[in-house]
Amino acid sequence: MTARTDALSNTDKQYIWHPFTQMKDYVNEDNLIIESGEGVYLIDTDGNRYIDGVSSLWTNLFGHRRREIDDAVKSQLDKIAHSTMLGLANVPATKLAEKLIGIAPKGLKKVFYSDNGSTAVEVALKTAFLYHAHKGDKKRTKFIALKNSYHGDTLGAVSVGGISLFHGLFKPLLADVKFAPSPYCYRCEFDKRPENCGIYCADALEALAKKHHREVAALIVEPMVQGAGGIITAPPGYLKRVREICDKYGVLMIADEVAVGFGRTGKMFGCDNEGVTPDLMALAKGLSGGYMPLAATLATEEVYSAFLGEYSEYKALFHGHTFTGNQLGASAACAVLDIFEKDDVITNLQPKIAYLTALLERFKGHPHVGDVRQRGFIAALELVQNKETKGDYPPAEKIGAKICQEARKHGLIIRPLGNVIVIMPPYIITDGELKKMIDAIEVSIDRVTI
Ligand SMILES: Cc1ncc(COP(=O)(O)O)c(C=O)c1O
Repeated sequence: MTARTDALSNTDKQYIWHPFTQMKDYVNEDNLIIESGEGVYLIDTDGNRYIDGVSSLWTNLFGHRRREIDDAVKSQLDKIAHSTMLGLANVPATKLAEKLIGIAPKGLKKVFYSDNGSTAVEVALKTAFLYHAHKGDKKRTKFIALKNSYHGDTLGAVSVGGISLFHGLFKPLLADVKFAPSPYCYRCEFDKRPENCGIYCADALEALAKKHHREVAALIVEPMVQGAGGIITAPPGYLKRVREICDKYGVLMIADEVAVGFGRTGKMFGCDNEGVTPDLMALAKGLSGGYMPLAATLATEEVYSAFLGEYSEYKALFHGHTFTGNQLGASAACAVLDIFEKDDVITNLQPKIAYLTALLERFKGHPHVGDVRQRGFIAALELVQNKETKGDYPPAEKIGAKICQEARKHGLIIRPLGNVIVIMPPYIITDGELKKMIDAIEVSIDRVTI
């Protein structure tokens, strides 16, 4: 370690309080300080290169320092970095809105900007509540969400979060939310088998909606994959059922595409897998290619029009963040959407998805990998102590964290979700790099578990 790295490391430990991190441990461990990036690689202050195996928290699609995105941001910087969107428009946010509506599920017509995934969800929740209120139904103050769901860390988003470790402690502060079962086939809470259950968990969701719908504004779901809950892949048909249930009971459907949007599931949006148009859709992370904090909440004309009225009716959406629609973020996002079109990214991703499937095959017989999950270019390995009983490693063993720490020695940066190893590299990863990544995960799992 160079003297400079050592000094930076000490300064980091002295001043920074890291998110989702037990700082008592962190200050006693080696920390890694990223200095630069190049394509799929993160480079630390000592010049070591690591594959960015979780795309810098599921954001980076086309690599670091991608020329087209760099150029777009640099040329925007020569014009202006930021002006407010409260009562003013700007060039890149305007162009981006048109592009987004052009690719979004049919029926979504309006774009409300904010600056991160949590705020995109907050906007959706508040909009759903006000939609009903503006239409004269003020009783719909509750939401339906799924167990194991994650929608962000602001209080509204935490209210609809279903991960007790993250959300349980905040319960006294939260809105009233009814939780439906998670479509978690590996650990089905009804002990059913996905081959013949008829998506039983969707029936349970419907029963909940039937019971509470008169007081429910919206149902929020992560389409196809519950991300932070453990990369839980929903069975085919589940999302379509969610849409049908919402329609049947007059509840708005919020699709939180923050993690799965922009190609991760192998389609542009998770909703596209089942031909679903939600009433509200939250976007962030990949929207700016992982470059800038930028988010958007898309709405149908029906939702939007409930907010129209005389000024004195005060139906305007009273919500807006300082950096809403920021020009640098929007210019990065325009470049991202241009790349999708120019490089036919979704089509060209399909062979890489198939190669990832083939590479994951080796884990199926592994004594400590209980479940191998994949949807598109998202994959996960659920580690178990006992494969027969699906017995978990105790959280205190920090098995996932130890494996990810070991992976660094093999040139890979990944981050676990408890006992689940997440595989979510940038789309530009080559076959050779993908194999190197999976080899590094395999050897790291072996070293830690066997
Ligand atoms: C599905 C989903 N929604 C919302 C969020 C929150 O996004 P942010 O961390 O940008 O607030 C996340 C973050 O991981 C997410 O996965």
